[in-house]
Amino acid sequence: SPNGIDLSRARLGILGGSGLYAMEGLEDIQELTIETPYGAPSDALRLGRIGDLEVVFLARHGRHHSHTPTEVPYQANLWALRSLGVRWILSLSAVGSLQEQVRPLDMLVPDQFIDRTQQRPLTLFGEGLVAHVAFAEPFCPALSRLLGDVAESLMPEGRKLHRGGTYLCMEGPAFSTRAESELYRSWDCQVIGMTNHTEARLAREAEIAYATLAMVTDYDCWHQEHASVTVEMVIANLQANASLAQQIVRLAAQRVEAQRPSSSAHQALRHALMTPKEHVP
Ligand code: ADE
Repeated sequence: SPNGIDLSRARLGILGGSGLYAMEGLEDIQELTIETPYGAPSDALRLGRIGDLEVVFLARHGRHHSHTPTEVPYQANLWALRSLGVRWILSLSAVGSLQEQVRPLDMLVPDQFIDRTQQRPLTLFGEGLVAHVAFAEPFCPALSRLLGDVAESLMPEGRKLHRGGTYLCMEGPAFSTRAESELYRSWDCQVIGMTNHTEARLAREAEIAYATLAMVTDYDCWHQEHASVTVEMVIANLQANASLAQQIVRLAAQRVEAQRPSSSAHQALRHALMTPKEHVP
């Protein structure tokens, strides 16, 4: 690879969000129960193959949806994925729309974040090791392009794949107030969710390229002509898109296998360590 990182045997991680608790088309599945220095991940990881690519699936809320966005063990999840050799992550996530033209059942591949969380793990490091990774470009552009191309090619009539846009990450678990929703709209955010910023930040520290397929389920609570978001609305619209999401992931995995895209994320720590080498514990 151009940056000197060997991606020939790297694995693809799939983080399934609300409504995506399993992965179809995964062959030769092994369930792996992994312990990490941060405790247990959200669930057992499922290692399998799509074609010749080894893929690791993890349900971020657990397969029975038992972790709130605040409780998801993000550090353990990222540690476990990297320890299995994952160097690319596709994140599948339900989001609300903050803009008229981004409609429920559309999908969006974001390119930016604003973080409004307050109770999330900030780093995989600490304990004598200080790292400041670059995060100006929080999503891997090559992986996002690949994901956008695949999703666009599979979107049915009347549904749109949007490229780029800002994902507002909120703490939850309660949904936003109308004033908050209007504030985020005024900041020109396109979608709102509860998990991806925390995950992407730790993925960057783990030197894993990260891209998100945001599946739009609702108009949050700002839209005059649409009812405010409910869990039933989120689940119904996710289910309507579930088999499409599975198809997109399968085809994206085939492209990752063919291209094995390298990313600046793969060397995120190269210029990030503040602690002088002789003082690293
Ligand atoms: N996930 C799906 N819809 C959402 C919304 N409106 N706000 C936050 N997270 C969401």
